[in-house]
Amino acid sequence: MSEVKKIAVIAGDGIGPEVVAEAEKVLKVTEEVFGYKFETEHALFGGIAIDEKGTPLPTETLDICKSADAVLLGAVGGPKWDTNPKELRPETGLLGIRKALGLFSNLRPAVVFDCLKDASTLKPEVLEGTDLIVVRELTGGIYFGEKFRRQSEQGEEAVDTCAYNVTEVERIARQAFEIAAKRRGKLASVDKANVLETSRLWREVVIRVSADYPNVELEHVLVDNCAMQLLRRPSSFDVIVTENMFGDILSDEAAMLTGSIGMLASASLGEGSYGLYEPVHGSAPDIAGQGLANPIATILSLALMFRMTFGYEDAAAAIEAAVAQVLDAGHRTSDIAVDKSKAISTSEMGDLIVAAIRK
Ligand code: NAI
Ligand code: MG
Repeated sequence: MSEVKKIAVIAGDGIGPEVVAEAEKVLKVTEEVFGYKFETEHALFGGIAIDEKGTPLPTETLDICKSADAVLLGAVGGPKWDTNPKELRPETGLLGIRKALGLFSNLRPAVVFDCLKDASTLKPEVLEGTDLIVVRELTGGIYFGEKFRRQSEQGEEAVDTCAYNVTEVERIARQAFEIAAKRRGKLASVDKANVLETSRLWREVVIRVSADYPNVELEHVLVDNCAMQLLRRPSSFDVIVTENMFGDILSDEAAMLTGSIGMLASASLGEGSYGLYEPVHGSAPDIAGQGLANPIATILSLALMFRMTFGYEDAAAAIEAAVAQVLDAGHRTSDIAVDKSKAISTSEMGDLIVAAIRK
């Protein structure tokens, strides 16, 4: 009998509740098939929390997340709250929850499913075999550096500063090496060490940490070159680790290799095994409430949770195999369907994946 794992479930706004409901079906079937035990607790977050509790991130929600082993999040936000003051906006809650939970890295796998190769703008032969993961530092760099305006001789001037300390670089480097060691053993560390001092420190620390991982092959790639190589030879990458802003840009670039935002999972991790798992997409207000959303990104986020937080590789692999099988059989939600008239609904897609896991 395995121990009971606690999962905080936050459906959020827009299509959030629809896609999370499908992931919960998958959670249930993995209990039946693999004998794992989960206890879920639902919490309010984002727009719905603003409406019901007057804040995007109620203390109660944070308590539920902190007492859980992992968090599954749908998506938050929508036009209804867009004109609210900053502290009453759903995105403010997103930054707040990451900070409060000590999450310092964001992981985005980009996997090209064979049968969806045509959905990308790149040539199928370039994409063949692409299965990479971008590990982005989340707490430092230019986004969080000191910012100010001043008068210069040529008029008003704006300044953003970029800072990284050894501790911040070391913890993410270690995490990336650990992830690479469990995959194909290749790590690309991306920086701009030819011009940036923070990048020179980044590289020094990565090299130092690499001594502890002799089985991981390390390459240093300059960020501009990495942007090109991602389009030229995506399948040659295994794990890419980089600082906050480079990671923001490169992870979006990598995401487009796969074709649809409805397929992309993500994890945000801190120290230890704790993690927050969510689809990359937002609340998609344009299609909310119509059963049109693709639940695969959220279901694959659950698979990531099984692998990274719980070490349930069998269940993670079974979910991923079920998704591939359902896609191979030709089933599509409208975002990935060529013939939209044959598209299936959110819950039909969830049910097919559940059935494939059960087999
Ligand atoms: P979005 O990702 O919600 O939607 C972009 C486009 O992709 C839309 O046309 C949408 O219909 C489509 N799409 C997204 N997910 C899909 C899925 N699972 N299946 C099928 N189609 C899908 O991004 P957008 O429109 O920029 O933002 C909408 C709201 O979501 C905003 O309020 C934004 O702030 C919020 N947002 C929240 C995020 C989060 O909760 N982590 C992340 C990104 C945006
Ligand atoms: Mg971005």
